[in-house]
Amino acid sequence: MKIHSTYMAIVLATVIMNAENHECKNYVLSASDQSLIDMMEHYLHTSRKEECPPPIKTSNSGVTYVRWGKKSCPKGAEIVYTGQVGGTQYGYRGGGVNYLCLPNDPENGQHQSYGNNQVYGSEYQLSSSMKPSGWSESMADKEVPCSVCYQKHRSTVLMIPGRKSCYKGWNSEYNGYLMSDHNTHFRRDFACVDINAEPVDNKNGNEDGAVFYPTRTKCGSLRCPPYTNETDVLCVVCTK
Ligand SMILES: *[C@@H]1O[C@H](CO)[C@@H](O)[C@H](O)[C@H]1NC(C)=O
Repeated sequence: MKIHSTYMAIVLATVIMNAENHECKNYVLSASDQSLIDMMEHYLHTSRKEECPPPIKTSNSGVTYVRWGKKSCPKGAEIVYTGQVGGTQYGYRGGGVNYLCLPNDPENGQHQSYGNNQVYGSEYQLSSSMKPSGWSESMADKEVPCSVCYQKHRSTVLMIPGRKSCYKGWNSEYNGYLMSDHNTHFRRDFACVDINAEPVDNKNGNEDGAVFYPTRTKCGSLRCPPYTNETDVLCVVCTK
C-alpha cells in the first residue's frame, strides 16, 4: 500500500504539471490518459472503501401517517392500529397542541390524584352552519376515529394543504378537509380529515375535548387568486 501511494503521488504530480502546462482544455483523451484516469479511480475506490455508507436495506424503508377520521387504511397500506382521536381539552391554555391517535387497545397506567388532565377524546363540531360542503350534519358531536397506516414501499410522506390531488410522481393516500380547533379556542394542530370521515360510534353526547372544526380561507395576506375567499380548505396526504 505504501509503495502504491508513493507511486500514485508521482502520477498525480505528473498529471497536475501536465495540466498546468496546458492552456487548452479541449484536448482529446488518449488511451494512456484514460488508463491513468482508470488507475486513479481504482486507487480511490480501494483506498476510500471505508468512507462509503453501507447500502440502504430496503426492508428498513417505509413511512407511517395518520388517517384522521377513518377506522381503516387506504388500499395498499398496512394498518398499524386503529383508535380514537384525542388531545388536550379545547379550553385549556397549556398542554399539547397536537391531536393524538390513541389506540383502541391501550396499556393503561396507574391512577393518580393530581390534576393535570390532558388526554380527552375528540368530537366533530360540525353543525348545519359550520361544516364542509357535502358533509353530513349527523356527524355533530360524534367522536372521531383514526388509523395509523404503514406504506412499506414508500420513503416519504407529505400532507399538502390547499389541494385534493398530489403532484406528479406522488401517490395519493387519502384526501379530505383541513380541520383544527376553533379560532376562539386555544391553539391546535391542523389535521387532514378524510373526506369520507366516519364516527367512532353512534353516541352523540356533547362531551367536547379536543374538538374538530372545519377551516376556511381568508383573503388578504393570503393571495387571492390563486386562493378564493372564505372557502373550505382541502388537503391531501401523498407518499413517494
Ligand atoms: C372576503 O369576504 C369577506 C366577507 O364577505 C369580505 O369582507 C372581504 O372583503 C373579502 N375579501 C376579499 C379579498 O375578497
